[in-house]
Amino acid sequence: MNRDNKMVLEVESRSCNEGLARIAVAAFSTQLNPTLEEVADIKTAVSEAITNCIVHAYQKETDMITIECSRFQRELTVVVQDKGKGIEDVEKAMQPLFTTKPEQDRSGMGFAFMEAFMDEVLVESRLGEGTTVTMKKTIGRQKDVFE
Ligand SMILES: Nc1ncnc2c1ncn2[C@@H]1O[C@H](COP(=O)(O)OP(=O)(O)OP(=O)(O)O)[C@@H](O)[C@H]1O
Ligand SMILES: [Mg+2]
Repeated sequence: MNRDNKMVLEVESRSCNEGLARIAVAAFSTQLNPTLEEVADIKTAVSEAITNCIVHAYQKETDMITIECSRFQRELTVVVQDKGKGIEDVEKAMQPLFTTKPEQDRSGMGFAFMEAFMDEVLVESRLGEGTTVTMKKTIGRQKDVFE
């Protein structure tokens, strides 16, 4: 596999670890010399993906979430994986405002934010087996415009 660097982080599905993982991914991304805006985008997307593992995949249980970061040239790839309950209909789940937890004040915007802030978002899921969210972002696009 083509890559220039890789980091794998495994955390328990506790909300305190959401911030930890978000900061670790942001730190990894600094190798690509991102703008503050790009770092903010990455943090938001990672935060949404990890919150989904905590809130939806494992619900009241605590289990492991794996966060894998890699970079190849200017492209950052972040993979967030759980072994939780899985998603019945991925296409439907990714629609803006779709949520299975409206009673918990969820707005159904997590996947929409991931798609807005990253270049590519791929969701693979199997019921009862878990979900893998792969997000890609090319860093430094804004610089090209001015060069
Ligand atoms: N890792 C996951 N495991 C199981 N189900 C998931 C997972 N991630 C998302 N889902 C399902 O997809 C739906 C949409 O997710 P999305 O993040 O867009 O919205 P939300 O989490 O419901 O609300 P918000 O993110 O705005 O708080 C969820 O309501 C849930 O049913
Ligand atoms: Mg969500």
